[in-house]
Amino acid sequence: MAESISTTEFRLLRDLIEKLCGIALGDEKTYLVETRLAPLLAENGCQDFGAFYRLVSGEPSPQLRDKIVDAMTTNETLWFRDTHPFQILREKLLPQLAADLAAGNRFRIRIWSAASSTGQEPYSIAMTIHEFCRANPGVRPDQFEILASDISPSALFVAKLGRYDQAAIARGLPEPLRDRYFHQDGHVWTVNDELKRMVTFRKFNLQDSMEPLGRFDLVFLRYVAIYFSDGFKRQIYGGIARLLAPEGHLFISAVESLRGISDDFRQLTHGAGSYYQCQLP
Ligand SMILES: C[S@@+](CC[C@H](N)C(=O)[O-])C[C@H]1O[C@@H](n2cnc3c(N)ncnc32)[C@H](O)[C@@H]1O
Repeated sequence: MAESISTTEFRLLRDLIEKLCGIALGDEKTYLVETRLAPLLAENGCQDFGAFYRLVSGEPSPQLRDKIVDAMTTNETLWFRDTHPFQILREKLLPQLAADLAAGNRFRIRIWSAASSTGQEPYSIAMTIHEFCRANPGVRPDQFEILASDISPSALFVAKLGRYDQAAIARGLPEPLRDRYFHQDGHVWTVNDELKRMVTFRKFNLQDSMEPLGRFDLVFLRYVAIYFSDGFKRQIYGGIARLLAPEGHLFISAVESLRGISDDFRQLTHGAGSYYQCQLP
């Protein structure tokens, strides 16, 4: 059993984690670093956290870096999380975007799920669009493109496979949608090809330049900025404002706020939910 982590080792590893993925950990998170990284010490033959830090502070392999990121990220997610964003998408944004498509003002709508975890968020967006298209035959799912990205290789792996066990499938997914968009194979439910076709998965670190991703009409950045410093939040929201189309929209989570972080967005409400519209030209 490895020794417990010292204050110095915690601070060194915490700085390394922030450098790798932007996650900022206060001193009260010592236990988190200790418990989440302990299996990697054993796997890499390190007797203690000091030895592990020496191993990773040099030139760690990309695989080891990925394992640290995987260990330290929280991939908690569920279908149609918070409900309101999907209601706003269905009732406000999709009618506007469909009208733009019909008028020829746009040829394709691009949506980015910027911390997509195991896929529940982008597939929930895809189901909302599909349902909208079923009710509005003039609009087609192939007019929408969803980019889903995450830094965690293991979360992306699950998302791409689109296979979920009974416990995961039951969290927030209404049965009629489950039966329409998934097929069951024993205890596993798999997303059907219609939905998979709408989503492209890609590994992306929010610390990297967003420019190569192109322009988007709508961005979901939910339950991830809560782990970052204010400085990193400013950088990310600034980047998103620049890649959104004029008057494009942003969803953040119910527990996050842009107050004091970004002036590039105007807060809008619909029902009990809120969303943000980009103010940049
Ligand atoms: C709690 S999940 C949120 C998933 C989904 N957006 C939702 O609201 O249900 C946070 C995700 O952010 C990802 N993440 C953390 N740091 C990141 C970074 N620097 N770049 C990209 N993704 C990151 C994690 O891997 C994790 O899958």
